[in-house]
Amino acid sequence: MPVISFANPKGGTGKSTSALILALELAHRGGKVALIDCDPNQVTAGWAAAREANGDTIPFTAIPNPGEGDIIDVLDTLSAEYPFVIVDLEGTASLMMSRAMSRSDLTVIPMQASPVDAKQAARAVALIRVEEKTLRRRIPMRILMTRNNPAIRTRDEKAIVEQLESAGVPMLDVPLHERAAFRALFSFNKTLRELTKAESAGLPKALENAEGFAYFVIKALKDEMRGEGDTNSATSEAA
Ligand SMILES: Nc1ncnc2c1ncn2[C@@H]1O[C@H](COP(=O)(O)OP(=O)(O)OP(=O)(O)O)[C@@H](O)[C@H]1O
Ligand SMILES: [Mg+2]
Repeated sequence: MPVISFANPKGGTGKSTSALILALELAHRGGKVALIDCDPNQVTAGWAAAREANGDTIPFTAIPNPGEGDIIDVLDTLSAEYPFVIVDLEGTASLMMSRAMSRSDLTVIPMQASPVDAKQAARAVALIRVEEKTLRRRIPMRILMTRNNPAIRTRDEKAIVEQLESAGVPMLDVPLHERAAFRALFSFNKTLRELTKAESAGLPKALENAEGFAYFVIKALKDEMRGEGDTNSATSEAA
C-alpha cells in the first residue's frame, strides 16, 4: 500500500542508495516491494538489470523509467498490489517529482550535512509545501541525513540539524552513515547480506544502520497514519 518517494532537487545526496537499501531491507523482512526508478540514469534499475544479466535473483520488482505521463497510473496500479512501493527520483525539480509526491504516503529527502545541501533540502521542503497547497493534501515528509561520519558529529551537522528542527522540518530519527558497504552495493550489484569482507569493510555496522533506517521509515509511516507526523505542513491547520 504505502508509496515512499526519495526526492531532492540536488543531485548526489543519496536518493538511489537509500531507496535501494530500504527496498532490500523491506524485502528481507518478507515484504513484497516494487522499486520504481524515475531517474533517466537508471541507477537502481541498473542494479536490478545487472543482477538479472548475471542470473541472480532480484529481491523486489524493479520498474524502470515510467514516463511523466504514466507515473500516476503506475503508482496507482502498483500500490494496489504491493505492500511497499518505493520511488527513486531524479536529482532535479520536475513534473515527475511533483506527480510522484502527490501519490506518496511519505517523501524522504536525503541530504548531506553541508550548507549547500541544507539550502537545497530547504528548497525540496518548500516545493513540497507548494504541492500541499496545490493538492489541498498533506504530503508527509522526513529529512534523512546521509553520509555522515558515524564517529563524530561535525559543527556543520549540528548547526544544520538545529536549523531544521527550529524551522519545524521533520527529520528521520536515524541517519544513513558514510559506509563503504553502501557504495559496494552498486560496485558488486549485491545486497548488504551478500557482500563479503573482501568486498567491503564494516559490514555488521552497515547492516545495523540499514536495519535502523528501515525501522524508522516504517515508524514514520505509522506515525503519519496515526496523525502524529509533521505539524508544520501547509495544510495542517485545515486538517
Ligand atoms: N551512505 C553512504 N555511504 C557511502 N557512500 C554513499 C552513501 N550514500 C551515497 N553514497 C555515494 O554517493 C554517491 C551519490 O549517491 P546516490 O547515487 O545514491 O545519490 P542520488 O541522490 O541518487 O544522486 P542523483 O541525484 O544523481 O540521482 C554515490 O557514489 C554513492 O555510492
Ligand atoms: Mg539517484
